Amino acid sequence: MSTKWSRILVLVCSTRPNALGPAVASWLTETLAPSAHTLDVDLVPVSLADLHLPFLDEEEHPARGIYHHEHTRRWSKTVAAADGFIVVSPEYNYGMPATLKNALDFLGAEWAWKPMGFVSYGNTSAGTRAVQHAKQVTSTLRLVPLGSTVALRISETLPQGSFQPAAHHARVAVDMLEELVRVAKVLAPLRDHGQAIPGPLPGSYAQRLHPDDGPHVTVLQRCCWVEEAVANNTLQLPALRESPAEVREWLTAWHGTGLWHAGRLLGMVRARRQGNALHIGRLAVAPDLRGRGLGRWLLHIAEGQGSGCSRLMLSTGAASSHNLAFYQRQGYVPLAHAADVSASGKGEVRLGKDLTA
Ligand SMILES: Cc1cc2nc3c(=O)[nH]c(=O)nc-3n(C[C@H](O)[C@H](O)[C@H](O)COP(=O)(O)O)c2cc1C
Repeated sequence: MSTKWSRILVLVCSTRPNALGPAVASWLTETLAPSAHTLDVDLVPVSLADLHLPFLDEEEHPARGIYHHEHTRRWSKTVAAADGFIVVSPEYNYGMPATLKNALDFLGAEWAWKPMGFVSYGNTSAGTRAVQHAKQVTSTLRLVPLGSTVALRISETLPQGSFQPAAHHARVAVDMLEELVRVAKVLAPLRDHGQAIPGPLPGSYAQRLHPDDGPHVTVLQRCCWVEEAVANNTLQLPALRESPAEVREWLTAWHGTGLWHAGRLLGMVRARRQGNALHIGRLAVAPDLRGRGLGRWLLHIAEGQGSGCSRLMLSTGAASSHNLAFYQRQGYVPLAHAADVSASGKGEVRLGKDLTA
């Protein structure tokens, strides 16, 4: 499985024998390869011809996501796993090819909140009428069509009979990929919403934090650990000092849960198993939202990952009387002889809660 940040499908739309489409797609993927590497993107060419999709033959409206045919389920999985698309399309009779319209019509939610860029080709119009046509349809599916497009005039790209777009086409293609990745990142919270669980505040939702949430987590923990620093009279607290890169690192090693509302990270917690114990930490709620039960809610979410564990463990500053009282109310007890002293010389209290009855 790829560890790249995003997976972008390059949809090759023409299916005719000896079509120009595959040559356009090869030029595009070769041109974009260095940028794709820098942007941490997997570019995956998908020829619509290889999908063997018949004309739409599903009984239910695609919005219901009930698919009776294997070809639809396969296509659904492919599109659902993508973060964005680049369509390589000819213009047929001033419109998009029927293959593209059909492939779009087969699915519903799988397309939603993902950016779509276009590389069109044709005669005088360079395929731009096909793009306009497609944009009208794709926006209905909640796809987000990009402003940048690559438009290739066939007469200018086939000077010696072989496909050779000019250098400025390559530059526009790179710009388009950069725009695609920027938009895909911004849209990520909307896409992930399906896997989220509703949070305790209206419109809020919780979902697993991923490494790309590093900047949000860094801001939240820096503002939340100021009180800890004051209470314990130290600035040597990792949560205050970690860089976004360091946060990104622990986000891969821990199971973090974020509570979000409209793109803002309201609270978080992290957990990971060690032997029979589940270690919980970095429980934080934005200062303006304290006293509404969000911390308790997040703690219970983290504790839910402890099935099969015999003990829950966490720690807090020895002088964090508010936190200590909170954890004790939630059933945690300070561990005997566990007030260890950190490198900074400031005390930390470890607390545990047994899960075995
Ligand atoms: C059915 C059909 C309709 C076409 N209509 C247009 C058109 O409206 N505008 C245009 O610029 N070229 C049009 N062309 C010419 C195509 O741009 C050209 O044949 C191109 O190579 C088609 O892409 P493909 O080879 O990947 O199928 C049409 C070609 C076909 C086969």
